Amino acid sequence: MKNIIPLVIATRNKGKTVEIKELLKNFPVEIRNLDDFGPIPEVEEDGDTFDENAYKKASFAAKVLGFPALADDSGLLVESLDGAPGVYSARYAGKNATDEQRYARILQELQGETNRNAAFECVLSIAVPTGPALTYEARCEGVITQVPSGANGFGYDPIFYYPPLQKTFAELTREEKNCVSHRGKAFRELQDEFDKVLVWIRQNMPIQERFACEHEK
Ligand code: IMP
Repeated sequence: MKNIIPLVIATRNKGKTVEIKELLKNFPVEIRNLDDFGPIPEVEEDGDTFDENAYKKASFAAKVLGFPALADDSGLLVESLDGAPGVYSARYAGKNATDEQRYARILQELQGETNRNAAFECVLSIAVPTGPALTYEARCEGVITQVPSGANGFGYDPIFYYPPLQKTFAELTREEKNCVSHRGKAFRELQDEFDKVLVWIRQNMPIQERFACEHEK
């Protein structure tokens, strides 16, 4: 019997899924994502904080699918825009806009602005079907560029310059980005406590699922 537990990543964002799979590759978990389960209802990400939205996504997926679920809610906060786009990062230029349209809007709004300080924030929530959840948070500070640069990553990466490495996030490899990013840091906190997290998941799974988790594989 291996101590591997199933864990659903509660996202349909492909860029995030790739990064999260890489970050969890040494964990004793069998990763599934929402696409492995066919259509399930979408969660309205209408919370006022990353924390609320992360919990909503993780607990909804855990309840509907009957497995422990992990969600990441994250976004960009620009100092001179009073923290915008913040929780609206994914929809900043309208619901069906592209990443390019979203970061073009930020560049447009910052035209002539000298304060270009910004940060990415990430909240991870791990929930079990019975409701309780664990939370991890992290932040990464940088500067908004004048023009986009780089082709890696996703979202606002081409306009987020990370001074210690003198590159935008889109100019970093996935491994380099994971070493310094908000998401990478939050996952390392989780990783540091992962033994305890596994015990917590097992103790909080409903009896039937707990049995299934322990005997999977
Ligand atoms: P959500 O967490 O899925 O609601 O969306 C977060 C949004 O924030 C993404 O769609 C991106 O636009 C942006 N975002 C979050 N993390 C990153 C990142 O690591 N790089 C670039 N953009 C990000």
